[in-house]
Amino acid sequence: MAKSVAAVAVVVRSFLLCLFSSQIAAAQFAATPTGIPSLRPRLPNDTLCNHLILPAGYPCSEHTVQTKDGYLLALHRVSSRTGNISEQRGPPVLLQHGLFMAGDAWFLDSPEQSLGFILADHGFDVWVGNVRGTRWSHGHVFLSEKDKDFWDWSWQELALHDLADMICYINSITNTKIFVVGHSQGTIMSLAAFTQPDIVEMVEAAALLCPISYLGHVSAPFVLRMVNMHLDQMILAMGIHELDFRSDWGINLMDSICDGHVDCNDLLSSITGKNCCFNNSRVDFYLEYEPHPSSSKNLRHLFQMIRKGKFSKYDYGLIKNLKLYGQLKPPIFDLGHIPKSLPLWIAYGGNDDLADVTDLQHTLKELQSKPELLYLENYGHIDFLLSVNAKKDVYDHMIRFFRSWGKSSSSY
Ligand SMILES: *[C@@H]1O[C@H](CO)[C@@H](O)[C@H](O)[C@H]1NC(C)=O
Ligand SMILES: *[C@@H]1O[C@H](CO)[C@@H](O)[C@H](O)[C@H]1NC(C)=O
Ligand SMILES: *[C@@H]1O[C@H](CO)[C@@H](O)[C@H](O)[C@H]1NC(C)=O
Repeated sequence: MAKSVAAVAVVVRSFLLCLFSSQIAAAQFAATPTGIPSLRPRLPNDTLCNHLILPAGYPCSEHTVQTKDGYLLALHRVSSRTGNISEQRGPPVLLQHGLFMAGDAWFLDSPEQSLGFILADHGFDVWVGNVRGTRWSHGHVFLSEKDKDFWDWSWQELALHDLADMICYINSITNTKIFVVGHSQGTIMSLAAFTQPDIVEMVEAAALLCPISYLGHVSAPFVLRMVNMHLDQMILAMGIHELDFRSDWGINLMDSICDGHVDCNDLLSSITGKNCCFNNSRVDFYLEYEPHPSSSKNLRHLFQMIRKGKFSKYDYGLIKNLKLYGQLKPPIFDLGHIPKSLPLWIAYGGNDDLADVTDLQHTLKELQSKPELLYLENYGHIDFLLSVNAKKDVYDHMIRFFRSWGKSSSSY
């Protein structure tokens, strides 16, 4: 009895939480009929739906989610080419992209090869996340991207605000628990968010591609070079808050890191590890979308993790930590707080220089549950998104996992 009362209370609370945030969003739109401040000046038709999803023949709509700290995120909803949307949809699944990427990452190859399309074809109600600062997100209710404060966040806010508020939004619309898929930084965000009881209660199960929580064993030469030259401190000291590798500044920076120190002939390999199964003739097309901007503070947070080997909040230094967190060291995200009852599925690769196998063992040791594991010896970090064989190697297994945890009524 007490248990069911508690369960009802939890549902009501999360419902109110979501309702509250979408009402703020509605009020905001009403108050600014001239439109939301846009991150990049772009045409109204310049949306992810119009670029990659509608042209492939898939129904696609864009939703705007306002985070608790005022960012306006684009969330895309995609469904099957053949299905009838007004009939019952399959279970919702949220795709959460990685660092320097956005929702486009799930749609860059053909419909037969790309996870976003494949899930839609299998009848899932596909929701595509885009974090703050990326090309598809819509800025902030009062900050401009030129403001230093616009970029004052790291993956900690992406986890506790962006991911949490997107999950909440989808939950409030579909009234169903959600499957979550994360890649790379999307898994850092997921694991951090799942340690929070009010977020994880809205999640049915999760699939993690190249999961990261510990980063102490990163071996990518390009990344280690940036860590050793203290690039993170350098750029913040220079007053650079937005990290955009497409800017002139970003291009010069890449040149100076490569100069004589790292073999950048195969730049991607020196960042991610060797990817086995790319379609090389598509790289120019990928580069029309990647990389997306992120914040210098986020880079600094990631480098703190590489240096210290901890999965914790942003380290501001002793005094500010004490002020913000009430302790000298930043609080850790305790993976032991992720409920044992949350089904987890993990895919990882032997050539992944970012999500290292030793670091993954560390993660697994701290989880209460035993996730299902899929190991692909020749896969690098980006193969999990763009391998020409990913459907057979990875996605078919993921879908089988989701089906085994879905509600019995499923027709997907
Ligand atoms: C948006 O509209 C412009 C002008 O009509 C057109 O050139 C462009 O291709 C359109 N973009 C997309 C993504 O549909
Ligand atoms: C979609 O399903 C609804 C409800 O079953 C039906 O009324 C409608 O005609 C269908 N539309 C198409 C295009 O099949
Ligand atoms: C590789 O990309 C090209 C160009 O988009 C395409 O024609 C070809 O079918 C792709 N190959 C594979 C194996 O997917």
